[in-house]
Order: sequence, then C-alpha cells, then structure tokens
Amino acid sequence: MTHPPHLTVVDHPLVQHKLTLMREKDTSTASFRRLLREISLLLGYEVFRDLPLTTRRIETPLQPMDAPTLEGKKLTLVSILRAGNGMLDGVLELAPSARVGFVGLYRDHDTLEAIEYYCKLPSDLEERTVVLLDPMLATANSAVAAVDRVKQAGARDIRFMCLLAAPEGVARMGEAHPDVRVFTAVVDDRLNEKGYITPGLGDAGDRLFGTK
Ligand code: PRP
Ligand code: URA
Repeated sequence: MTHPPHLTVVDHPLVQHKLTLMREKDTSTASFRRLLREISLLLGYEVFRDLPLTTRRIETPLQPMDAPTLEGKKLTLVSILRAGNGMLDGVLELAPSARVGFVGLYRDHDTLEAIEYYCKLPSDLEERTVVLLDPMLATANSAVAAVDRVKQAGARDIRFMCLLAAPEGVARMGEAHPDVRVFTAVVDDRLNEKGYITPGLGDAGDRLFGTK
C-alpha cells in the first residue's frame, strides 16, 4: 500500500504482534500498559531514525577512531493527556534527557471536538525537535489542536507518534499540518459513527488506566 508522504507506518513484526495483543478485548490493564510502553520504544526507534550524527575521537582497546555520536539535537516529548502518558516511559528510555511537556485534551462525546483543560510546555521549543505522543489518531481533532498549541509556543520541527490511525485522521493531519510527520503502527479501516477507530482497540485512555 502506498502512503502519503507525511506518514510512516512502522510495520515491524514485533510491533504488529504486540499490537494484536493490545487490541484483544480481554487483555488486562497491566498487560495493555506494558505493551504500550514496549511498542512506544519500538516506534521511537523509527521516529528518531534521522537524528543528526557527528563523530567523536575515542580509543578502543586496539586503536583511536572517530566514532559516531549524536550531535545533541535537543528533544522535547509532549504527551497528550491522558493516553499519551502510556507512551512516555518507553520513549524516555530512548531519549532520557528529553524535556517533557503535557497538553490535556478530551473529546466531547457529542461533537468530537477537542477540549483543552491543561497545557504545560518547556521553553525554547523553537530550537527543539518536538515529538507529540498519543496512541490514537481518530478524527485528528485532538492531534490538530495539540500541534496548534506547540506551534503557538514556537515549535517548528514537529513529529506526531501514535499507535493506531484512522484514514480520516491521517488525511486531516495532512491538510491541517502538512509539515508534521506522522508515525503509526497501523492505519485501520475507518471511523465508526461514534468516532471510534475500527477495528481499533476501544478507548485507549480507559484501557490504560482501568476507568469506565
Ligand atoms: C482519545 C485519544 C486521543 C483522542 C483521539 O482521548 O487518546 O487523544 O481520543 O481522537 P480524535 O483524533 O478524534 O481527537 P480522549 O479524548 O478519549 O481522552 P483521554 O485520553 O483522557 O481518555
Ligand atoms: N479515542 C480512543 O481512545 N479510541 C478511538 O478509537 C478513538 C478515539
């Protein structure tokens, strides 16, 4: 399948296997949480694939060499509350020095509009690569609002990392923010009449935190 240029689908077998376990309705909260953390680490591997490298002079036990090392591009992770928090620890294992911000959004059940209730972002976003974290890209109302927010705060280099995307959400992000690269494990079939991704995995926040 061909994907739009702003979309990367991480179809690694480990990711796909873990995602199937997450989708199953009888998967426990503890397993769902662990799997989301593990998949996020694997997705992060792709999200950071183009981080710039430089070299550093080191000595191996045999000889000196100019060895590759990260140039030190500053990273910021922004978790979209609540469910984005389930991705945070996995990505922080890859990027332990990253700054972390939070945008609190919930979907109005009737209109599906994103309602903001919290925002705390690091300063100097202009100089940073910003990776937004949210497992679900459904209508993209939440993602578009979160990107609007980090752009208002100065961010220019922005990536959006999710687990499941609906085709409708991918298209909307491409229209609203064509400069933002979207990374997902899968693009599912479609949204249902209530705005849920199908076949999907249900409500990510509720499954992650054991609510409802
Ligand atoms: C979920 C999910 C996304 C949003 C996606 O959050 O985590 O933020 O829905 O839907 P959209 O693309 O149609 O905006 P929800 O609003 O259920 O809040 P929660 O994380 O607090 O459960
Ligand atoms: N939010 C979720 O948690 N799940 C969906 O399927 C859509 C939005």
